[in-house]
Amino acid sequence: MLKIAVPKGVLFNPSIKLLQNSGYKIPSEFGRKLLIEDSNQQLSLVIVRPFDMPLYVEEGVVDVAFIGKDVIEETSMSCFEILDLGYGQCRLSVAVPSYSPYKSVDDFHSLVKVGSKYQNLSKKFFIERGIQVRIFPLGGSVELSPIVGLSDAIIDLVSTGNTLKANNLIEIETILHSTCRLVVNDAKYRLKRKEISEFISRVVEVIK
Ligand code: PRP
Repeated sequence: MLKIAVPKGVLFNPSIKLLQNSGYKIPSEFGRKLLIEDSNQQLSLVIVRPFDMPLYVEEGVVDVAFIGKDVIEETSMSCFEILDLGYGQCRLSVAVPSYSPYKSVDDFHSLVKVGSKYQNLSKKFFIERGIQVRIFPLGGSVELSPIVGLSDAIIDLVSTGNTLKANNLIEIETILHSTCRLVVNDAKYRLKRKEISEFISRVVEVIK
């Protein structure tokens, strides 16, 4: 049986739909269950928080995982990236309040305070630009941090742009584009090559 991790959040429904369209008999309702098998017992699905995904993949608890490129880059996880699935399109951007004196990243001269769930990518971005930065690691509601005065800017995901707009923030630079990827554990790929290849072929048939 192939073990597959599916992330909670925006990638969950399209990933389940893709599995169903690929011919796997997966129920549409799971309730609060976090471990599910398809009715033909070909797949075992685990439902994982996106930032916990690297642990499950690297430890070999799962063979295959659906995961956003943003998480792959932030965590530098060790995996073999097989497919760009195309959905879950979003971007990681720097944003500031609309009334901010900073209109572009080049306007940041002294120490800039940044709220983000993406501490590594944020740090890397500012270091590469030669700008001193203090990152405030946040677990969510990132858009709040500059409007209450905790930070000067945020680095966060933007999809529709509605959250930025609702909180009176504007994007000043995009640092990464992301979509959902299918990844495999390197060792598991060697061990279960036939099963994993068959799974990938079924998925490719649907997405192409
Ligand atoms: C994500 C992201 C933004 C929002 C962007 O948050 O961190 O806040 O979605 O989407 P939009 O551009 O379509 O408005 P999420 O919904 O995961 O909630 P969070 O605050 O818990 O991170």
